[in-house]
Amino acid sequence: MRAVVSSCAGPLCAAARSVIPSIWRGKYFSSGNEPAENNPVTPMLRHLMYKIKSTGPITVAEYMKEVLTNPAKGYYVYRDMLGEKGDFITSPEISQIFGELLGIWFISEWMATGRSVAFQLVELGPGRGTLVGDILRVFSQLGSVLKNCDISIHLVEVSQKLSEIQALTLIEEKVPLEQNAGSPVYMKGVTKSGIPIFWYRDLQDVPKGYSFYLAHEFFDVLPVHKFQKTPQGWREVFVDVDPEVSDKLRFVLAPCATPAAAFIQHDETRDHVEVCPDAGVIIQELSQRIALTGGAALIADYGHDGTKTDTFRGFCGHKLHDVLIAPGTADLTADVDFSYLRRMAQGKVASLGPIKQQTFFKNMGIDVRLKVLLDKSDEPLMRQQLLHGYDMLMNPEKMGERFNFFALLPHQRLHGGRHQMNACQSKTSAFPVAGFSELAWQ
Ligand SMILES: C[S@@+](CC[C@H](N)C(=O)[O-])C[C@H]1O[C@@H](n2cnc3c(N)ncnc32)[C@H](O)[C@@H]1O
Repeated sequence: MRAVVSSCAGPLCAAARSVIPSIWRGKYFSSGNEPAENNPVTPMLRHLMYKIKSTGPITVAEYMKEVLTNPAKGYYVYRDMLGEKGDFITSPEISQIFGELLGIWFISEWMATGRSVAFQLVELGPGRGTLVGDILRVFSQLGSVLKNCDISIHLVEVSQKLSEIQALTLIEEKVPLEQNAGSPVYMKGVTKSGIPIFWYRDLQDVPKGYSFYLAHEFFDVLPVHKFQKTPQGWREVFVDVDPEVSDKLRFVLAPCATPAAAFIQHDETRDHVEVCPDAGVIIQELSQRIALTGGAALIADYGHDGTKTDTFRGFCGHKLHDVLIAPGTADLTADVDFSYLRRMAQGKVASLGPIKQQTFFKNMGIDVRLKVLLDKSDEPLMRQQLLHGYDMLMNPEKMGERFNFFALLPHQRLHGGRHQMNACQSKTSAFPVAGFSELAWQ
């Protein structure tokens, strides 16, 4: 790990990153009760009003799913919402160091678990492909370490628009949609650095095999059910048409218990909770795969450890946005409950974290990486971008404390196995997992 960090002193990334202070999506926002200054009747609002009038109020989970990923009108499907001109900005778009350190994390895990002859890198919700691009640059720079390893890239993406942008970022050309309707791969190609790359709509379709999984700001867009504690017990929050204002939606409480209430813990002490069954399904799938074929999953997102209540919020044009206004024009998100992810993984694999982004990157050697990049750059604008990016990622008031890292690993990875660190350590000890404990510089 130490050797890997110090040898990775590659060139600066050609793509300039943002220095304009844009909003990131980790801010808390109480939803649904903002004054509706401007409530355009969007095609999505019309669709939802029709649906609710025909079949009754819908759960917040169904609302989120329709608004974000409806194949015809979903927010994510046909637009590029990332960056200064979009609605929000994410870490890989702010600083190249983010992806570089994650690239080192995967190589470190690959080395610690016996340098398999092949691995798949699977990213869930890859945005513009910037993160994979930065990781692949590290893989190229460390080509001598990875030289006999057969690597392939697998992207799980529902957005047609973003998958086109990912292809342009990673392959540098447009990729046609696959003609074979029966194939789960909807696009494929070869990256600039010669690595095969495939696109899927669902994790289930990614081939099983030794894999590293990555999800950054992916779990927070999965649909959540919301529940309010009442004297009658837990009641689910639904979205209904407002009978008093035309073309307006409102939140209502279900009159009786609903099936999703089964996800609430018996000893729950909060009076409002959000649960995300889709996240549970994905964690179970990842856990099963990792237990069966090895590898690891690294999940980075804003979230909490089973303590927060109402975190559902919207973003539009770098501003907080009422979640019920002009649906389909704004991003919707809710903090990830890492305690739930941990429960869903339990038994099959071990989990580490959540730990704060600031701590994870300190442990990964971010200060050394920043210094290397600053020493190599004489351009004032580039230096300013690097320092701004570092501040955004690490400052506890910005992303440093709101964002967390969480990992899933095979049990034997944490509890010892066939690999020894050095002669002083016992046979059953394992390499420490990078990022989750302090690096011992020697
Ligand atoms: C908030 S963006 C994060 C993008 C990127 N990971 C980053 O950090 O810049 C969420 C990503 O997940 C994708 N996405 C949303 N829901 C999805 C789903 N159900 N399955 C697969 N991808 C999804 C979006 O299209 C987008 O690429």
